[in-house]
Amino acid sequence: MPFPHINPLLKSVDAIISELDSRDDILQKVSELLSEKVEHYNWVGFYIVDESGTNLILGPYVGAATDHVKIAFGKGICGQVAVSQMSRIIQDVSLEDNYLSCSSNVQSEVVFPIMKDDKFVAELDIDSHAISPFTELDTELLEAICEKLAGLF
Ligand code: SME
Repeated sequence: MPFPHINPLLKSVDAIISELDSRDDILQKVSELLSEKVEHYNWVGFYIVDESGTNLILGPYVGAATDHVKIAFGKGICGQVAVSQMSRIIQDVSLEDNYLSCSSNVQSEVVFPIMKDDKFVAELDIDSHAISPFTELDTELLEAICEKLAGLF
């Protein structure tokens, strides 16, 4: 399946944001949308910075249950993004040393930070069962979604 058109997906995200009231409901619906529309997205979810500002707490997600419900800054791909506040695109997780495995089916992963007024508040994490599936289209889509979601924090 080719990569879906980005603009209709962004319009759907706008509609979700305007129609739902709670942040968790919005993040859940956006997770569902992405997992339905993009074939290589097998786990889609959010990690949110806790009050201490040193841990990530698992938020709404779609996909297999994960043991990683709380991740310290610096641990795994998610924790590294929390420290660097820069996105990571991992085309082959087997090449990563600092990686927290959720399932042996996962071969690749992307994590995008959600920045509110230059402050790191959360991140979007996507796992794929495909190897090297990510292109600049994923980046364009996911960066735009993270910008839209920043207003919820
Ligand atoms: N693989 C992530 C952990 C989160 S799961 O993918 C849901 C990591 O290395 O940080």
